[in-house]
Amino acid sequence: MRNKAIITSALPYANGEIHIGHIASTYLPADVTTRFLKQKGVEAYYICASDDFGTPILIQSEKEGKDPSDYVAFWNKRDLEDFTAFDIKFDFFYRTSSPENIEFVQDVFKKLNANGHIYETEIIQFYCDHDKKFLPDRYVIGSCPYCKAEEQYSDLCEKCGRVLEEIENPRCAICKNPPVKKKSKHYFFKLKTFGEKLNTWLEESTNFQNDVKKYVQNWIKSGLRDWDITRDISWGVHIPLPEAKDQVFYGWFDNHLGYISSAIKFLNDKGIDGKEFWNSADIYHFIGKDIAYHHYLFLPAMRMGIDQEYKLPDYIPTRGHLTLQSKKISKSRNWYIGLKEFLGYYPADYLRFYLVSINSYSQDDLNFDWDEFATKINSELIGNVGNLVNRALGFTKKSFNGIIPAPKEFDQQDKDAENKIKGLGNELSGIMEQNHLDRALKKILAFSDHFNQYFQHKEPWKNGPGTDTCVYLTVNAVQSLAVSLYPFLPASAQKIWSQLGMKGSVSEQLWGSISDISIKPEHKIGEVSPLFSKVEDSDIQKHKQNLSSPSN
Ligand code: MF3
Ligand code: ZN
Repeated sequence: MRNKAIITSALPYANGEIHIGHIASTYLPADVTTRFLKQKGVEAYYICASDDFGTPILIQSEKEGKDPSDYVAFWNKRDLEDFTAFDIKFDFFYRTSSPENIEFVQDVFKKLNANGHIYETEIIQFYCDHDKKFLPDRYVIGSCPYCKAEEQYSDLCEKCGRVLEEIENPRCAICKNPPVKKKSKHYFFKLKTFGEKLNTWLEESTNFQNDVKKYVQNWIKSGLRDWDITRDISWGVHIPLPEAKDQVFYGWFDNHLGYISSAIKFLNDKGIDGKEFWNSADIYHFIGKDIAYHHYLFLPAMRMGIDQEYKLPDYIPTRGHLTLQSKKISKSRNWYIGLKEFLGYYPADYLRFYLVSINSYSQDDLNFDWDEFATKINSELIGNVGNLVNRALGFTKKSFNGIIPAPKEFDQQDKDAENKIKGLGNELSGIMEQNHLDRALKKILAFSDHFNQYFQHKEPWKNGPGTDTCVYLTVNAVQSLAVSLYPFLPASAQKIWSQLGMKGSVSEQLWGSISDISIKPEHKIGEVSPLFSKVEDSDIQKHKQNLSSPSN
């Protein structure tokens, strides 16, 4: 672990609202990780941007009769609002259509070209005679030539994850007529020539997940294809050559460069040498498995192609997709829950807690289930964490006037309890660094559970000889809980912090303080009130009914 880090998560298309599926695999794990790294004293910045270019966005803005730049500006703003409401805390949220990114993309292209990684060739493009347009990517739908899945866009099969060369049974996405073919001159990036270099890089990296590494290496083995980076549309980064002035880059040529250009802009504006920082920091790109091909092959190859002027990623945490009530999330079938809608029902921390707890560090898909959500919140978050905090602080308030008593002699249970506190920081740290966020959260719950039992055993309400020590240690355990829960549940952690009567913000506490017995006798705790309220089954049934059936 370096003492600097840049964390990114897949840039959201500026093309519709953020829903719970987006959150689970990338934004939430990246946010938790960034908060954790900051607590560890790492100079860490979480950088994101809206992904503004590409044919789907142009198509949608045309449908709505809007200028594409107004259209993406709307979603850029709205996305950031939703992320913020969910306590996803970017240090900077920019856009791929920024002047900085456009300039950077053009510059990268020129360097790739000068280094011999670009060639041009005349290709046959779909063209719609009815709409009088070239039809790149999503302007054409058809069947995947590999897995035969129907209704796929021509650039990517969502079923088998392959990037497609030619689609079967093509139709124009606008008017549904079969397109004709027309010639156009396109620029290609020589991805094929990077196969061996990419393979060595993957081989040597110890930070990537083994299963992802394996299937990416299989892609390399079965042969990479050069990438057509040109699109015959008007919305995009223009190709900086006089003979191509009406053409733009493919969205996947420019979007990931937005990680770099946004980070550099942010850092430079702060008075930090952005490039220097990038190249001496740990670089994390959090993604969902559907864009593994782009991040493990295309993105590093492009950086290699400009002599690694900006270093390659150190971590590409890759997670599976979220299903909803065991069915694929689909906006068009209304089988999804918008983030904003969710936050109208429950606090952000409920969703953060649930999604982290079901999300392993793997490609396995995870499932949002309303009943399981209710059970987890009621029995684990409220029944365990909420209960401990409320019991310990409520009792201190009632029986000690809110003043922490001095501990007396420690018996074996007290010593065990003290050791739990002293060991927690380290115990969690290793797991967090390996990105096993779900396991870390489980450990915190086990810690909380231990103290619930300890408190129960000691029966301080009987005011026996062990009472003072029990209260002293349990309140300190609540302090540990606040700091360790902070990356996962920032708002609740702050509430615990204030109820403990601690000054400042829990976000400023260093990770090491988890294992300090920092609350001393005579300290006065703050006002105590329940942290959470129960999730009602009647509401859960309503939420379930709100989802329309995907067969409709
Ligand atoms: N917008 C893309 C998606 O949602 C992700 C872009 S990630 C980046 O699939 F690397 F290209 F920036
Ligand atoms: Zn058409």
